[in-house]
Amino acid sequence: MDLKSLIRDIPDFPKPGIVFRDITTLLRDPEGLRHTIDLFTQKILDAGLKADYVVGMESRGFMFGTPLAYKIGAGFIPVRKPGKLPAAVHSIEYELEYGTDCLEMHQDALQPECRVLIVDDLIATGGTASATAQLVQKIGCELVGFGFIIELRDLQGRKNLPDVPIITLVEY
Ligand code: PRP
Ligand code: ADE
Ligand code: MG
Repeated sequence: MDLKSLIRDIPDFPKPGIVFRDITTLLRDPEGLRHTIDLFTQKILDAGLKADYVVGMESRGFMFGTPLAYKIGAGFIPVRKPGKLPAAVHSIEYELEYGTDCLEMHQDALQPECRVLIVDDLIATGGTASATAQLVQKIGCELVGFGFIIELRDLQGRKNLPDVPIITLVEY
């Protein structure tokens, strides 16, 4: 199945010059959704990645991270934007094109012996994934790899990530 044909391109969103890769059209397609999660699962397993937990980033990381966790028999841990998680959190600030942003994870979500796979819908600059990796590694967890549905290769985001396997399904 041609997953790219189910991803909608929206020019000049959210600002001029950006081509937004819209995954809502992939998610709404029953066959496309099933195929995406099945293929994602297969690629993770074929790469030999074994994780106790999938860590997914708000919000689009939740849409692919949770079904993947279910399929590989792992738990799912949400990394959220500030002020959303109710218990004590670890926080990390990271650079955006303009200014900084922050991500949070519950302090008791992971222990040092956990094996973790980080999942998001898309890697662009790698800022979001890199910040999440720092949260996970600060605890002392083993980061086994990253999984993204989409990679925007021109932005070379993988250069900003630790040296572990990176699984992607669609590249631009
Ligand atoms: C988008 C996308 C990734 C991130 C990729 O999320 O879902 O999480 O940007 O960009 P980066 O590699 O340059 O960090 P966004 O922050 O737009 O929020 P959303 O998932 O809530 O839509
Ligand atoms: N997040 C960062 N860059 C993006 C893009 N071009 N399309 C969709 N989500 C994004
Ligand atoms: Mg996101």
